Amino acid sequence: MMTTRCPAEVSEVQALIADALPRVQRVFDEQLASDLPSVTRLCAHVGRYRGKMLRPTLVLACGLAEGRREIGREHEVCAAVCEMVHMATLVHDDVLDEADTRRRAPTINRMNGNESAVILGDYLIAGAYHLCSTLDTQAVALEVGRVSMTLCAGELLQLSRRGDFSLDEATYLEIVDRKTAALIALACGLGARCSGADAGDGGSGGGGGVSRFERFGRELGIAFQIQDDLLDLTGRAGDLGKPTGKDLEKGKLTLPIIRHLASATPMERGRMLRLLESPLTRREELAAELARSGAIDSARQTALERVERGKRAIEGVEDSPAKALLLLMADAVVDRTR
Ligand code: FPP
Ligand code: MG
Repeated sequence: MMTTRCPAEVSEVQALIADALPRVQRVFDEQLASDLPSVTRLCAHVGRYRGKMLRPTLVLACGLAEGRREIGREHEVCAAVCEMVHMATLVHDDVLDEADTRRRAPTINRMNGNESAVILGDYLIAGAYHLCSTLDTQAVALEVGRVSMTLCAGELLQLSRRGDFSLDEATYLEIVDRKTAALIALACGLGARCSGADAGDGGSGGGGGVSRFERFGRELGIAFQIQDDLLDLTGRAGDLGKPTGKDLEKGKLTLPIIRHLASATPMERGRMLRLLESPLTRREELAAELARSGAIDSARQTALERVERGKRAIEGVEDSPAKALLLLMADAVVDRTR
């Protein structure tokens, strides 16, 4: 589970979630079980990518914040489904990024090649659809299908703009909203939905029911990706357990660079474009330049603002220890260093 410093009121709900996560894990493992040792071996390796369990934790915490005292089978299935979709995207993403390490473990593409990684990602996504189709309601499968399309569309948009130094902030946010925030929004919305929240906006237009949790998740997701992108520029591979500088290497412009270029003098712009031409050897120089111009701080400020917007989205949710945990998790998204 995501580690957050917890006041006493929250520790009980944290314990409830910590108790449920191994059950989520069991659902996950059972769904992927295969009679073929080669498939089992690859799935076991994916288990090493498990990190903070952010998405499953959000499903369960939003479920509890929506007024449920306990976590039911539906919450656990949705939590496992969200984690499975997430794992599928990571396995595919590492192919696209030609990444060799994730969570300090070799990537599937490095160990078994791109072909195996692509098909394993397909196995995971197919497993996720199959699993959510076991639920009585069709609503979850419909949402999971819709959001998976959104993730792919976000990734396709990003691919189409690789190496494009004219990428603007609105398009960057569009990419982030789709490739990352949509799944985190789904996790939050499904948690609330499984606790009986109204699928609409509560009729108020201002957002009740499921939609306020989705908006909370969407803002958190955007903040999460901005922070992830900052760490790609300024973090250390040893701390992150994955390579840094991948965005630069793959020609993905991220928020600090977009902001820097937007306000740069022609000379600063020329210097930045030259640094972007050899990003691997000049990452530190590049990050220092972005820090000097205030672009790093400005991106970080945007991540913090998104967290605040997320918190405001659930203002109307009745106060509870689960809601307090959600607010703590929101802060943790931008405080993390890995
Ligand atoms: C991580 O980005 C990647 C994503 C958030 C989304 C990737 C989505 C796909 C590859 C589409 C495939 C979708 C399905 C449904 C299988 P990043 O490279 O910035 O993060 P990282 O630093 O953790 O690699
Ligand atoms: Mg990547």
